[in-house]
Amino acid sequence: GIPTLTIKLVLLGESAVGKSSIVLRFISNDFTESREPTIGAAFLTKRITRDDKAIKFEIWDTAGQERFAPLAPMYYRNAQAALVVFDITNEQSFRKAQDWVEELHEKLGDNIIIALVGNKMDLLTMQGEISNRAVNEDEIQNLCQQENLLYFEVSAKTGKNIHEVFQAVGEKIPFP
Ligand code: GTP
Ligand code: MG
Repeated sequence: GIPTLTIKLVLLGESAVGKSSIVLRFISNDFTESREPTIGAAFLTKRITRDDKAIKFEIWDTAGQERFAPLAPMYYRNAQAALVVFDITNEQSFRKAQDWVEELHEKLGDNIIIALVGNKMDLLTMQGEISNRAVNEDEIQNLCQQENLLYFEVSAKTGKNIHEVFQAVGEKIPFP
């Protein structure tokens, strides 16, 4: 077969930001409005190609509800990549994302590739000059610079930028 790089990737972020929906869109090109909160975590795999090679993602989709927080270290242990997800219409979810980024760097060092993912961009609307974007774009940029993050704004609902996130993460990791 063709050379294959396996990447362990973990999704972290507050409950209901759309982690499972991002994974469902990536793996099955599907979306549902009524998703149940994840219990514990879900494990899924997906192959993509990069040039003439293959990347196999081993994905841990964690549960964002606070009661599952103690389990997270078990799922991010040995991860080479993380998607830290927030909802761009929800300020609190961005604070939580910041906490996850800090925890990942503290526990795993600087080698892990982290993509900050602002989901639900389909919900962005304008009232005249006023947007319902809940997180200041400068603040996002500062965090990304400080912590060396990739940044994507996506919609699991429309599929916008979902594949691009995984592709970009895959391209950051060298083949052995
Ligand atoms: P936990 O498993 O509890 O951590 O939540 P989660 O982050 O996995 O969220 P989930 O994917 O279950 O989505 C929560 C809700 O947000 C569901 O009702 C989804 O349909 C909705 N949702 C997810 N992504 C989007 C999106 O891009 N746009 C919109 N409008 N809704 C979304
Ligand atoms: Mg979930």
